[in-house]
Order: sequence, then structure tokens, then C-alpha cells
Amino acid sequence: MSSFLRKDGKNYFTRSFVNGQRVYGERIVTEGKIEWREWNPYRSKLAAALCSGLLDFPIREGSAVLYLGSAEGTSISHVSDVIGEKGVVVGVDISPKAMATFSKLVESRSNIIPLLADANQPSLLRNELGDFSCDVLVQDVSQRNQADIFVKNLREFGKKNAHGLLVIKARSVDSSISPKKVLENELALVKRSFSVLQVVDLNAFESDHFLIHVVVGEK
Ligand SMILES: C[S@@+](CC[C@H](N)C(=O)[O-])C[C@H]1O[C@@H](n2cnc3c(N)ncnc32)[C@H](O)[C@@H]1O
Repeated sequence: MSSFLRKDGKNYFTRSFVNGQRVYGERIVTEGKIEWREWNPYRSKLAAALCSGLLDFPIREGSAVLYLGSAEGTSISHVSDVIGEKGVVVGVDISPKAMATFSKLVESRSNIIPLLADANQPSLLRNELGDFSCDVLVQDVSQRNQADIFVKNLREFGKKNAHGLLVIKARSVDSSISPKKVLENELALVKRSFSVLQVVDLNAFESDHFLIHVVVGEK
């Protein structure tokens, strides 16, 4: 685990990149000059995955991260804490409204790059991002073709041994079949391209959500 991420009892905390800043009303614990922000699993699916037994959290100090579906920046603010000043996270979202709030957060966090764009079009993202490549791709977009978007972006932007964390919101993919069946179908798509390390059921915090953890280059 990164020295900027720690577990205290059942709760996870990230070491604040910006002291005194609350992003979504989270609890802050102070230790001398260091502040730790509680990572709320009911507000962030990455925290929900950690609290639900994700075995290896691949985001570390200095990581380059591509985050698809950054929304207002709740989760990405914790990613920004974990990667620290040596890391970078590109936050992509299609919603101008979410991006407006997110852009305010970015003003105080130099390791975040915001990008208003459609994650479904990696070639357009590539035009914006030049030769950027990532150690970790995180995706949390509520679209029908979640696995397809994930696979094409991880292929395009992932480094040789990159990791991917894909949040599946089953109801957005297909509400006419069971969430478990949706997961099975999405998993089959992902397995064609990457090795799956773990599937985490997020149901304790977000109903009908799962997280798939994959790694590139070991197929
Ligand atoms: C569930 S929210 C993400 C929450 C965020 N990951 C967090 O934990 O703070 C899903 C986001 O995906 C965005 N989104 C949906 N389709 C998208 C697309 N094709 N490209 C980029 N963003 C998209 C939505 O605008 C929304 O902000």
C-alpha cells in the first residue's frame, strides 16, 4: 500500500495533497502537519472496492492514472492524494456541468488534468493527450457498453504492465437481465484482452455494482 493511503480499523484514509481542503464533507484527521482524509465507501466506488476486499490497490505514489468518468471529482481527489506530486491523473468526463465543479478542484491540485471529452472515442482522447500513457486506468461511466469502452482505452493508453479497474454498473448495461448475468457478459468481453486478477462485489455500498481488476500484458 502507498504511504499516502492507510487503513485505520475498517476505514481508509488518504494523506491530503491540500491541507485544510474538504472536497465532499469528508472527515479529516490531523497528525501534526499531516492531514488524512477519510475515504467514504458510500461516496466512492474505489473506496467501496477497498472496503469490500480488493486485494491489490494498484495506484501508488508517482502513478500515471487515466480516470474515465471523473464527475465532480470525489474519487479522483483521493487518487490525487495517493499519487502525490510525482504522479499525474487525467480526469475525463462528458458532462460540462460536472466538469465545471471539477475544474474548481483542479485549481488547487497540480497533479490533476481535467478533460471534457467522450471516453467512448479514444482516438479523440489521443489527440488531446499526445503521447500520454498510464500505469492504471480507472473507469466509472454509466454507459451501456462499459466493458467495450474500458477495453479500447486500456489498449490505447495502458503501459506494458498497466492495471485497469473497471466499475460495472449493471443496470446501465442491461436492466432486463440479472446483475450477475450482466457481470458475466462484461467479464467475458474483458477476458478476451486482459488477465482478470479479481472481481469485487460492491453491493454492500452500491447496489448492483461490481469492480473488475485486470492487468495488461500477461495473456
Ligand atoms: C457515476 S459518475 C462517476 C463518479 C466518480 N467516478 C466518482 O466516484 O467521484 C459517472 C460519470 O460518468 C460520466 N460519463 C458518462 N458517459 C461518459 C462518456 N461517454 N465519457 C466520459 N464520461 C462519461 C458522467 O457524466 C458521470 O459524471
